Amino acid sequence: MSTPRVVRSAAELRSAVAGALAAAGTAGGGTGVPSLGLVPTMGALHQGHRALAEAARAENDVVVASVFVNPLQFNDPEDLRRYPRTLEADLDLLGAAGVDLVFAPSEAEVYPDGAPLVRVSSGELGARYEGASRPGHFDGVLTVVAKLLHWTQPAVPAHFRAYFGQKDAQQLALIRRMAADLNFPAEIRGVPVVRAADGLAESSRNVFLDSAHREAAAVLPRALFALAHRVSAGHPPDLAAAVALVEVEPLVELDYFDIVDPHTLQQLPADPGPLQKPGLALVAARVGPVRLIDNLPLVPPARAAR
Ligand code: PAF
Repeated sequence: MSTPRVVRSAAELRSAVAGALAAAGTAGGGTGVPSLGLVPTMGALHQGHRALAEAARAENDVVVASVFVNPLQFNDPEDLRRYPRTLEADLDLLGAAGVDLVFAPSEAEVYPDGAPLVRVSSGELGARYEGASRPGHFDGVLTVVAKLLHWTQPAVPAHFRAYFGQKDAQQLALIRRMAADLNFPAEIRGVPVVRAADGLAESSRNVFLDSAHREAAAVLPRALFALAHRVSAGHPPDLAAAVALVEVEPLVELDYFDIVDPHTLQQLPADPGPLQKPGLALVAARVGPVRLIDNLPLVPPARAAR
């Protein structure tokens, strides 16, 4: 394991990326087009982030990760204040996953004139689900991701890929839309959710759960898997039963539980029969001090067999 090089400014990032790509381009005798993978993060890294970095490492010559706690995507100043900042441990994890370069800018580097006047709008898709309880959150996410993609984008011909977790399904759908709608020359790659032994999806916020809340939170993946098993066995998804399972848990305050189209995140029509096409079950709940989100693909048998 080697410690990745840390760069603090966008100018340093550009020249480090250019140098690394030039070295990669000549490594194989200069024949192939080199590839660059970007893994944007807010630090406080866990096994889910490690999976992103490893996916990027497996597919690219050069891997850059960014660590920046983006104030623009926090609605609650207290949430921003207490967000864990663990750069040393993050560098160890990124080094172990084989990341070459870490971009860890200051707030002044990212937003030199303070909060930006012009932002990327997440539109109607950004106003639903997570957006309904966190107004402006996805505009903040898209704005910083746009900046990170611009800064990291290779200046020479190269494959450029950016990696995001499928756990944040709405964020991933929005980033894909932004890249398509605004012609970003990056391939957006989704990486599957990483779960702990109790089924809970890895999240930087899990550290705030005491053991009682942690145990209670495990009802969320249980309810999701119960739904997915029904659907893969060819039964209609029983959303009401999944909701009831969560609502029995007194430490869990359910926000939403829904079945949506995996690409558009539009609610699937409530149909009493089995699903005719793959869906995505989305859930969000407050568990003690934290809000947790999770999701699971619902794949009907004809597709599951493919
Ligand atoms: O998923 C995250 O950690 C953040 O929303 C991201 C994509 C790094 C933007 O700040």
